[in-house]
Order: sequence, then structure tokens, then C-alpha cells
Amino acid sequence: MSQLPPPEHIAIIMDGNNRWARHRFLPRVMGHKAGIESIRRVAEACDKRGVRVLTLYAFSTENWSRPRDEVDALMTLFGETIRRELDELARRHIELRFSGRLEELSPALQDQMRQANERTSVGGRAILNIAINYGGRGEIVDAVRAMAREGIDLKQVDEVTIGNHLYTQGLPDPDLVIRTAGEMRLSNFLLWQTAYSEFFSTQTLWPDFGEDDLDQALASYHRRERRFGARPEVSNRGR
Ligand code: IPE
Ligand code: IPE
Ligand code: MG
Repeated sequence: MSQLPPPEHIAIIMDGNNRWARHRFLPRVMGHKAGIESIRRVAEACDKRGVRVLTLYAFSTENWSRPRDEVDALMTLFGETIRRELDELARRHIELRFSGRLEELSPALQDQMRQANERTSVGGRAILNIAINYGGRGEIVDAVRAMAREGIDLKQVDEVTIGNHLYTQGLPDPDLVIRTAGEMRLSNFLLWQTAYSEFFSTQTLWPDFGEDDLDQALASYHRRERRFGARPEVSNRGR
């Protein structure tokens, strides 16, 4: 049996929407629409299992290089989804946060994101954090710039100072990172925060990802031994 408590923070690289649509001879946008349904399902399942923070990688800084119509469709979908889901999130006391270079998104979407966060941030018992226009390297660059703007003496900077200037300030590091659709890379996701996260990759495409897949990831997580560089615990493992 695992000694590990349930993960406090799960981060998911939601991948495979296009492949899901292609397999069904559907337009790309249908894959992304189906992906939104998975978000609703998985967010609820995580909440039920006591996961306090769920971070979802929705759009990377590199995703602007996709065809214009796909980018436009994604941005429209983000706005529509916030509008549609906000009441329910507020009712369930889930804070909606956004991490990324938000200032590069359209002013209308920025307004929506700000209002959504204001409405849900008081008294939230769990956090749904959407990584949008997010890039891990860019986040570190932005943290350095923010520290310089604040006049912080760069000779005094330590890991805590940097952590406090990331988009994810105040959030614990992810305990578990899940990537769907079989890829085994981080794609510029939470580079700083995943230093000691456990990684789980599944072949399941994001639109097909459901409670069973989540439970598989959790079961795998509970079989891990997190060492953080220390000497392994003496255990019955492998006897
Ligand atoms: C993930 O699915 C969604 C985003 C990156 C926005 P993809 O669109 O990357 O799907 P695949 O990986 O091409 O199948
Ligand atoms: C990572 O997926 C970004 C998101 C899930 C938003 P990509 O599909 O963009 O990553 P690569 O291109 O396969 O590395
Ligand atoms: Mg992909």
C-alpha cells in the first residue's frame, strides 16, 4: 500500500484533440470541442477525489504557430466555455485562475478571465488553473523582468523569490503531471514547478480521457516512491 497522500496538485497536458478528430474524419475544431467536455468531466472527478489544485495546459506560447483558423476557433471556444461554466464553478466554490502571458490575449478574453477570477476567488475551496498562452521559459523570463521592475537586488534572489514571481505564485508544485496521447515530453509546461513532479503518460487521447484514466494515473502515482534526492526509505518493496 502506498504511503503517499493523494496529490494536492495535478497538472495535465491535454494532448491529442486533433488526432481524435482525424480518426473520426471530423474537422479539427470538433476535437477541441470534445476536449472541453473532458475538462468538465475530469475537473469534477479530481474534485471528488480531493485534489485541491488542477492545472490544465490549454494553449502554449508555441501554439500561435498553428493555422489561423484553428487558433481563432480555440480562442472563441475559451471565451464561450468560461461564459458557460462560470456559474457552476462559482456554485461549487472552485476558483478559476489563469496562468500565462495573459496580456497578449484579446482584451475581451482578458476581461472575461479577470471577471471570472474575481467572481470565484473569494472563499474557493479548490482551484482550477488554466495555463493559457503559457510557456515555461517565458514564465521564467517574465519573473526575472518582474523582479527587476520591483527593484529587487538580483544578488539576493533565491528559489523562493523566483517562485513568488511565477504565474503560479501561491500554488504548490504539481505532485503529478499527466500527459495524454502518448507523448513523453513537457512541451514547455511548468518547467520550474515540475522539478520533482511524478510523470504519467497515457495513450488515451484527451477527448477520450475520463474517470478510469484518472484513476489509472492515481494508482500509478500511489505506487511511486518520491525521494526528492534523499536516501530511499527502507521498505518491503522488491522483497
Ligand atoms: C491538444 O491537442 C490541444 C492543444 C494543443 C490546444 P492537439 O491539437 O495538440 O492534438 P494533436 O496532438 O495534434 O493530436
Ligand atoms: C502541448 O501540446 C500544449 C498543450 C497541450 C496546450 P502540443 O501538441 O502543442 O505539443 P507538441 O507540439 O506535441 O510538443
Ligand atoms: Mg498535440
